Amino acid sequence: MPKLKLQYVCENCGSAQPKWMGRCPDCGEWNTLVEKQVVVETPAQRQARSAMPVEAGAAAQPVTAISADGFDRIPVGGSELSRVLGGGIVPGSGVLVSGDPGIGKSTLLLELAATIARTHGRVLYVSAEESARQIKLRANRLNIHEPELYVLAEIHLERILEHIAQLQPRLIVVDSIQAIYSDASPSAAGSVTQVRDCAAQLLRLAKSDNIPLFLVGHVTKEGAIAGPRVLEHMVDTVLYLEGERFQAYRLLRSVKNRFGSTDEVGVFEMAEAGLREVANPSEAFLAERLPNAAGSAIAVTLEGTRPLLVEVQALTSTTSFPQPRRTANGVDFNRLLLLTAVLSKRVGFRLSDQDVFVNVVGGLRISEPAADLAVAVAIASSIKNEPVPADLAVVGEVGLSGELRSVSQLPRRLNEAAKLGFRRCLVPQSRRQTIVPPEGMEVLGARTLRQALEIALGGK
Ligand code: TYD
Ligand code: MG
Repeated sequence: MPKLKLQYVCENCGSAQPKWMGRCPDCGEWNTLVEKQVVVETPAQRQARSAMPVEAGAAAQPVTAISADGFDRIPVGGSELSRVLGGGIVPGSGVLVSGDPGIGKSTLLLELAATIARTHGRVLYVSAEESARQIKLRANRLNIHEPELYVLAEIHLERILEHIAQLQPRLIVVDSIQAIYSDASPSAAGSVTQVRDCAAQLLRLAKSDNIPLFLVGHVTKEGAIAGPRVLEHMVDTVLYLEGERFQAYRLLRSVKNRFGSTDEVGVFEMAEAGLREVANPSEAFLAERLPNAAGSAIAVTLEGTRPLLVEVQALTSTTSFPQPRRTANGVDFNRLLLLTAVLSKRVGFRLSDQDVFVNVVGGLRISEPAADLAVAVAIASSIKNEPVPADLAVVGEVGLSGELRSVSQLPRRLNEAAKLGFRRCLVPQSRRQTIVPPEGMEVLGARTLRQALEIALGGK
C-alpha cells in the first residue's frame, strides 16, 4: 500500500517541501507552507498503478451510482469461443491467449480477427513473429479475404502505437507479446520487465480507447522467463489453448475471466482449413469406441459447467520387469497409483506383476476425481477381460478406504449421458436416493468400489 508521509505544501504554488520553512523556495511567498499528509509511492507502486484500469484520483462512490454501460459485448460468431469469453468480447478488455507452440493460437486469433473485421470493421493484427507473407499464407489456408483485416509485421511498440492511432481499429491482436520491445523500457528485449511494460502500455491504450486487445503469450518450459504469468495479473481474461499436438482436438479453457465464469471450455478440432468448432464433443469423443471391448469405461466428467463423456481405456499385461510399469495418459499419474493401490488392497486384485496403461481417448486431460471410478472400472475390466455394458456410464470419486464419494453437479452429468443414449449410470450410493433420473435412464448406486465393480462387470 502507498504510505502517508508528512510534508509541507505551499498554499500559493502547491510545491511540497520535506521540512517547514518560513519562505517557499519555489514561489518566494512568506508563511504559505502548511503541514499536510501526502501519499508517497515507490517507483514499483507507481508502475503497478499505471497498469491499473482505473482513473487516478477517482472518488469513492456508492455502488448504486456506478454505471455499467459500455459493456455491450461484441459477438464473436462461433458459440464455443463466445462461451469461453463469457458471451462475447467486452470492449476495452485485455485477453491473454497462451498455450504450447504450434497448438493453434495464431490460427484461432486470425479467424477471430477475420470475423470481427467482417461484422464490425477494421481489425489490426500485429504479427511480431511471422512476416506479413506468412500471415497471408495462413489467411489463404483459412480462406480469409477480409479487406478490413489489417496485418502489421512489427516488433517495435512505439511504431505499433502509431499504427493503432492511425488505423483506429475495433480490435487489436498482438501475436506475440513476448516478441515486442519498447524504447521506454530500460531492460533488455524479451525480458520480463519489457514484456510487462509493453503489455501495460497496450492495455492502457485498450482501456482508454475502449478497444479490445488480444495478446498471445508463450508458455516456456520453465514457465518463468517472460512467461505469461506476470501478464495474467494484468489482463481481464486468460485463455489456455491445449490439446495433444498430434491429435485433432483442442480445448480452449478460460482460467481467469473478470467478465464471465472461469473453467469454461470450448472444444475445437484442428482441420485442414483451420479450427472447426465441435458442437457435440461427447459424441465426437465416443465416435470410435468399440462396444463390448474389455478395458474401456465411460466417464462423465465436468469441464467448467460443461459435462463431457469420455472413454477411459486401460490395458493390463503381465510385466517382464522387476518393477511393474504404470503409464497414465490423460489422467494424473499419482491418481493412477492411488487407484491401483485401492484396487489391490481393498478389492483384492493382484496388480504387483501387472503393467498398467491408462489412456483417455481424444487427447483429453481429466483432472477431476469424478473420473476415478471410470479409471478403476476400466482397469478391472481389462484384468478380468470382461467388457463393461455398452449402455453404462460411471461417475464417482474413489476414496482410500475403497469407498465411493459423491461428486458435484450430478443431474447435469446424468442429462448429458442420457442425451447420448446411455441407459444406465452408476453413481455413489449417497447421491442415488436424492437424484431424479432423467427420462429413460436408470441410476444405479454403489457404496464401495467393490460393489461398483460387481454391478459394472456382473460380479464375475
Ligand atoms: P499455429 O496457429 O501457427 O500455432 P501457434 O500460433 O499456437 O504456434 O498453428 C499450428 C499448427 O496448426 C501448424 O502446425 C499447422 C496446423 N494447422 C492446421 O492443421 N490447419 C490449418 O488450417 C492451420 C492454419 C494450421
Ligand atoms: Mg503463432
